[in-house]
Amino acid sequence: MNTIDNVTFIEIPKVHDERGVLAVIEKEVIPFDIKRVYYLYDIPSDAYRGGHAHKKLRQFLVPLSGSFDVILKDGNDTKIVTLNKPNKGLLIVPGIWRELENFSSGAVCLVLASEVYDEADYIRDYKDFILSKSR
Ligand code: TYD
Repeated sequence: MNTIDNVTFIEIPKVHDERGVLAVIEKEVIPFDIKRVYYLYDIPSDAYRGGHAHKKLRQFLVPLSGSFDVILKDGNDTKIVTLNKPNKGLLIVPGIWRELENFSSGAVCLVLASEVYDEADYIRDYKDFILSKSR
């Protein structure tokens, strides 16, 4: 059973020279095969996103621009992390409730996902989430 301690930051290797930074996510960087890529942008600063857990999906969140907070819950503990470095992503494993908020102006969140979109993989009710953890 995953806990918030299983949610980890992963540094993305980068090539930096006087022309800027080039960050590269090759297959060794994240521990799953990518089946889907999506991104959030034009996010109002008071937006609240997430508010769900996943049964199987693993996700790697990268703040390509700006910053935002991710609130993580495993039913016992809560942790808030700030994503604000484009070469430092957050690996969220299944069974973790997440909420995204406090988006800076111009924030862009890239998400690399281990599965294609499947609404049946979501747990969108916090009570159901807590029940799923006690099973
Ligand atoms: P959701 O995952 O709830 O967004 P967030 O966690 O960022 O708040 O998805 C929002 C809506 O977009 C929901 O109606 C499902 C749809 N959606 C897709 O159609 N495909 C996708 O790959 C994703 C992630 C969401």
